[in-house]
Amino acid sequence: MERPVATRARRLLWRPDVSATAVYPGSFDPITNGHVDIIRRSLQVFERVIVGVAFNPNKDSSWFTPEERVAMIRETFRADGQRVIADAFSGLLVDYAVAKGANVIVRGLRAVADFEYEFQMTMMNRHLRPQVETIFMMTGESHFYTSSRLVKEVVSLGGNVAGLLPDNVLPRLIARAKQIGAEV
Ligand code: PNS
Repeated sequence: MERPVATRARRLLWRPDVSATAVYPGSFDPITNGHVDIIRRSLQVFERVIVGVAFNPNKDSSWFTPEERVAMIRETFRADGQRVIADAFSGLLVDYAVAKGANVIVRGLRAVADFEYEFQMTMMNRHLRPQVETIFMMTGESHFYTSSRLVKEVVSLGGNVAGLLPDNVLPRLIARAKQIGAEV
């Protein structure tokens, strides 16, 4: 039987060295709607996105443990099944990507201010593992000013961050801010 055109085209284009899986790394302390936006965009391009929560066992000033951060991401993307995998890693990002069978790293860009830091990381990662490519996605304009760091600062000073985080994350962030003695 004749295969549908899309399937035939995909087979013709398929190459074993091209990854259907991308790694989207970050601290995700906690995940924000800006991150969610980048993951949703990545799902339009890749079959599977591994959201890699980076942690340093020797130096961590995060509000949430790696396990808590992973749990919040899993809850946020529960409906996407195996297309979004949340996982924690320590050590080099490029080694993690290769171990997961991914040769693409996705990063989000908000403003020009992100560029310098991203450029440096990309070049270092390329030096370490030339076969791993980094691609950038522009965050949706409603998320240009959202960052985990700012959201934590605002919440710890009693500001309202509703709408900037997934619904399951907001109450946890407020509770954690109270626990660590912020004026919420
Ligand atoms: O979004 P973030 O929190 O700024 O992400 C930074 C992250 C996690 C991508 C970066 O710190 C990282 O890659 N950490 C893993 C350790 C590593 O590979 N360091 C060398 C990077 S060039």
